Amino acid sequence: MSRPESSPVRIRPEILQAVAYQQGKPAPADAFKLSSNENPYPTHPAVMAAIASTEPNRYPDALAGGVRARLAERYGVDLGRVHVGSGSVAVLAQLISAVAGPGDEVLYAWRSFEAYPGLVTVAGATSVMVPLRADQGHDIDAMSAAITPHTRAVIVCSPNNPTGTIVTREEFERLMAAVPADVLVMLDEAYIEFVADDSAVRGPEFLDRYRNLVVLRTFSKAYGLAGLRIGYALGDPVVLGAARTAAIPLSVTEAAQRGALAALDHEGELLEQVRELAERRDEVWRRLDEMGAPVPQPHGNFVWFPASGAAASVAEVFLRHGIVARALGDDGVRVTIGEAESVEKLLSAAREVVENLATGSQGPALD
Ligand SMILES: Cc1ncc(COP(=O)(O)O)c(C=O)c1O
Repeated sequence: MSRPESSPVRIRPEILQAVAYQQGKPAPADAFKLSSNENPYPTHPAVMAAIASTEPNRYPDALAGGVRARLAERYGVDLGRVHVGSGSVAVLAQLISAVAGPGDEVLYAWRSFEAYPGLVTVAGATSVMVPLRADQGHDIDAMSAAITPHTRAVIVCSPNNPTGTIVTREEFERLMAAVPADVLVMLDEAYIEFVADDSAVRGPEFLDRYRNLVVLRTFSKAYGLAGLRIGYALGDPVVLGAARTAAIPLSVTEAAQRGALAALDHEGELLEQVRELAERRDEVWRRLDEMGAPVPQPHGNFVWFPASGAAASVAEVFLRHGIVARALGDDGVRVTIGEAESVEKLLSAAREVVENLATGSQGPALD
């Protein structure tokens, strides 16, 4: 939507300058929508039944007590250490605005989840973006060095959206050692269920050690509930209480809460689908690697084609092959691991991208 030239209303200049969150494109009828890291499996019938059983004329449970109790039991923590929001992005927004305002800095790796810059701007704080390493992973030493007396929060994304790289346990501990105890660390684990690598950080095991750590997880990806909007945080009760204070009341719907409980009831089946997707991802990566595509090893439900200066033309190649992919700025293109039927199309598009690279007809080179 184009912006009007001006408004008589005084709007904060940083909001006027910022760009609203850009969603992955909808797919034409004959294409696969692999632009939003969604789960391709049909919604579990028990989730559909749970949603149907809600009464939309009633407000939801404001504290999402049922889901919190289930998660508290699952993670072996007190109820106060669990907070539920309308998607983990909502919880991120609450936490950022609870700890950072004008003059404060929020530090994160870049490129990472495209919602981070906007959330920081809306809070009135300043983003400090630390470039990824050449291998597309978080540069932990550079992040540690970028901490200043103004830093109020650090976001770590593992696996990182869009590059698919993980932060290892050892790297995470190194970062935590460099972060002052009064600075919040948000470990965004939206894709953690897809991770098979044992060296990857898994936040819950560090919660007892670091009171300034909050771990964010979601029902959107592995559990297939992206459209219901429900995610959660695990951490210190006082920090999570502050997030609750910063939240828009009653925003986690009853349908989302009941859907999440039904998904947890059928977790085994859903995690089996996650395992299938992870296998599909590994096979796709093996074949990409074989054809010489410069794709970092993926640990989430997506693969990343670094393509600085050529992202739009790479995304066009995918579209011609029946795949709606996501160009992110001009840094590269992210493609979700979706339906089994999409795999050969993904690979044939990738082959064309790699061939264009070899013949120099891609525009600026892939990284
Ligand atoms: C890294 C990361 N964090 C958080 C989210 C937000 O997920 P949710 O649907 O729970 O708001 C996403 C969604 O794409 C993501 O990629």
